[in-house]
Amino acid sequence: MRTTVVAPSILAADFSNTGAAVATVTAAGAPWIHFDVMDGRFVPNLTFGAKMVADLRAASKAFFDVHLMTIEPDSLADAFIDAGADAITFHLEACVHAHRLVERIHAAGRKTGVSIVPSTPVWAVRELLPFVDMVLVMTVNPGFGGQRLIRHTTRKIAELHELREGGLGAYDIAVDGGINTETAAEVVALGADVLVMGSAFFQSADPAALLRWVATLPRRGSSQTR
Ligand code: DX5
Ligand code: ZN
Repeated sequence: MRTTVVAPSILAADFSNTGAAVATVTAAGAPWIHFDVMDGRFVPNLTFGAKMVADLRAASKAFFDVHLMTIEPDSLADAFIDAGADAITFHLEACVHAHRLVERIHAAGRKTGVSIVPSTPVWAVRELLPFVDMVLVMTVNPGFGGQRLIRHTTRKIAELHELREGGLGAYDIAVDGGINTETAAEVVALGADVLVMGSAFFQSADPAALLRWVATLPRRGSSQTR
C-alpha cells in the first residue's frame, strides 16, 4: 500500500543555516528532502548548484529529490548524480531527448522524475510514463516558493492516477507548489503520493505534527504498491 510522502523543499529554509534545516527535516521524520535547482533561464530565479547537495549529503540519510528547473538538464544531471542525488526530476519542456536522459539517470542507479508546468497537459508525458519513477505536477508556475496553488492543475493528478491504474506505469504522482494545510487533503484524495512542501513545512510551528496530520489524510484507492 502506497503511503503519502512529504518532501520538504530546502528553498524555503534559511540559507545561512542549511545544516539546521536538514536537522529540522530529520527531527520531523520527513523521509525526503526536495532541492529546487533554478538556473535563471528556465525560470526567472537562481538558487544553487550541485555543491549544496554534496555538502548536505554528508549531513543526511534522507532521500535527496533534486528538481532541475533548468534548460538542458541533460548537461547538469551528472553533477547532481555525483553529488549524491537519489532522484533527479527534469522538466519535459526543457529536454528534447527525455527518454535518453531517463535511461542515463537509471544507468547511474538513480530514480527519475519528469515534471510538467501548469500549461503542459498530461498527454505530453504519456510516452515516458512506463519508464519514469515519478511525475511531478507543478501546481504553481515554477520559480518561487510561497505561491498559491493553481486549482486547475489538480485535475492532472486524477488523470495520472487513472493512467497508472490502467497499467501505463508504476510512477509516483508528486505535486509541487502551494501545498499546505488548506490544499493537502484535496491533492491526496485525488491520488497524490508525494507532497513537496516549502513554506508550509519550514514556517510550521510543529513540522512533526504537520507530517503526522498528512499521514492521516484519506488516500485515493490504488491497486498498485510502491
Ligand atoms: C517552485 C518549486 C517548489 C517550491 C515549493 O518552483 O519547485 O518546490 O519551492 O514551495 P511552496 O511549498 O512554498 O509553494
Ligand atoms: Zn520543486
